[in-house]
Amino acid sequence: MMNQQSIPEAFSRAAAKYDAFANDHPHLTRMRHKVYDHLSRHVPPGARILELNAGSGTDAVALAQRGYFVHATDIAPGMLDRLRDKVKDLRLEDRVTVEERSFLAVADVAGAPFDSVFSDLGGLNCVPDLSPIIRQLPNVLRAGGVVTWVLMPHLCLWEMVEALRGNFHVAFRRLSKNGVRSHLEGFNFDVYYFSPQQVMNWFGDDFELLSLEGLSVITPTAESKNFAKMFPRVYRALSWLDDHLSPHSPWNGWGDFFILSLRYAPK
Ligand SMILES: C[S@@+](CC[C@H](N)C(=O)[O-])C[C@H]1O[C@@H](n2cnc3c(N)ncnc32)[C@H](O)[C@@H]1O
Repeated sequence: MMNQQSIPEAFSRAAAKYDAFANDHPHLTRMRHKVYDHLSRHVPPGARILELNAGSGTDAVALAQRGYFVHATDIAPGMLDRLRDKVKDLRLEDRVTVEERSFLAVADVAGAPFDSVFSDLGGLNCVPDLSPIIRQLPNVLRAGGVVTWVLMPHLCLWEMVEALRGNFHVAFRRLSKNGVRSHLEGFNFDVYYFSPQQVMNWFGDDFELLSLEGLSVITPTAESKNFAKMFPRVYRALSWLDDHLSPHSPWNGWGDFFILSLRYAPK
């Protein structure tokens, strides 16, 4: 797979900037809260969650504070260092465990089986095909357990509006079938976009759809740190619209991301 080997080093070097970017970013905080609300509709507090591509641990500690037990995994040691620091600072060692592990080798993760397998903000978009990961889920997820994955779709309205400004590269880049080259800390790797239907097809008959919701369909992308602060009234109006449209078709498959939850119900 092209340049997969550069990912641990690229994200490790980016870890401090990644956390700094998330500071004082109300829109990203709103997006994360929508993910937690979605997850808590399907997974009760007290459940044991396996988190894939946990990054620097923002979600792991937030979920632990909401009463979950989280086993947080990622392939980038620099991200996991920051995660461990957060766990220590917040004294959440009894609720969060950490393991350096690629989601491509998830079958051998410590502590299985889990009640839920969670992945946030498109870490899984670093691979072109999710079926090798999905095939391993029966080893790590109990029957009746829930998968909640937050993935980047092909259709992002906020980016498509860029076409009006002649910025066609940004507007339509997600439609590329061969992935989009991403640059991070001097490394290159490819990012792939998925439709909800494609992902559900990969899951197959042993997984039942629980819920599909768009994440930031009308509001800006997560990259936009300042819009919410510069235009608070417009942002509030867009958020209201976003809240009302994003749970419903066709909006639920569009956006910066979509949140997909399925129950593992082996036949
Ligand atoms: C955009 S960050 C998202 C992090 C986190 N989920 C969040 O919401 O902040 C993507 C993460 O995916 C991780 N990642 C990429 N490929 C991976 C792989 N094969 N196995 C595990 N983690 C991976 C990266 O190291 C990085 O921490």
